[in-house]
Amino acid sequence: MSGAHNPPDQPDPAQRRLALRVVTMPRDTNPYGTIFGGVILSYIDQAAFVHALCHGDYTWVTASIERVDFLAPVNLGDVVTLYTRTVRAGRTSVTIAVEVETQRDPAIDPVSVTSATTTLVALDAHGHPTPFAQPGP
Ligand SMILES: CC(C)(COP(=O)(O)OP(=O)(O)OC[C@H]1O[C@@H](n2cnc3c(N)ncnc32)[C@H](O)[C@@H]1OP(=O)(O)O)[C@@H](O)C(=O)NCCC(=O)NCCS
Repeated sequence: MSGAHNPPDQPDPAQRRLALRVVTMPRDTNPYGTIFGGVILSYIDQAAFVHALCHGDYTWVTASIERVDFLAPVNLGDVVTLYTRTVRAGRTSVTIAVEVETQRDPAIDPVSVTSATTTLVALDAHGHPTPFAQPGP
């Protein structure tokens, strides 16, 4: 049974979803030649939105990005992959963990470069928070 013995701080990778994969471009670089943190934040926001759609077809807005850890630099030309999983499904909000990895060398394991936790809220047609129907993945 997959993940049955994973400790709480080591989430089962099988539970996470591939939300986004992008290649970093020259326009994304900071003055040091690595990728600007704000670009990574934008990817995280997009990945969380894609994940939130698993909970239903609403207008999902970002209420907060509660924590972001930049663990390692992202390099120009890196293929960046964002994985997501639901950590809390509330009444109208869902809290999503986002893991960002790069695969620099096919021969070695992916490098974990950023992790984040973000909360999105489902809005109805009038822009008010609305209970979402689907418990999600
Ligand atoms: C997020 C927003 C909809 C919350 O509106 P609100 O009237 O304060 O909502 P409520 O107090 O009824 O809370 C609704 C849910 O959001 C959660 N929430 C509200 N503010 C939050 C915050 N800052 N962080 C985390 N969760 C939050 C509440 O806990 C509640 O969750 P639950 O229903 O699962 O228990 C509103 O503040 C907003 O529209 N913000 C702008 C969003 C935006 O433009 N984002 C950027 C572009 S996507």
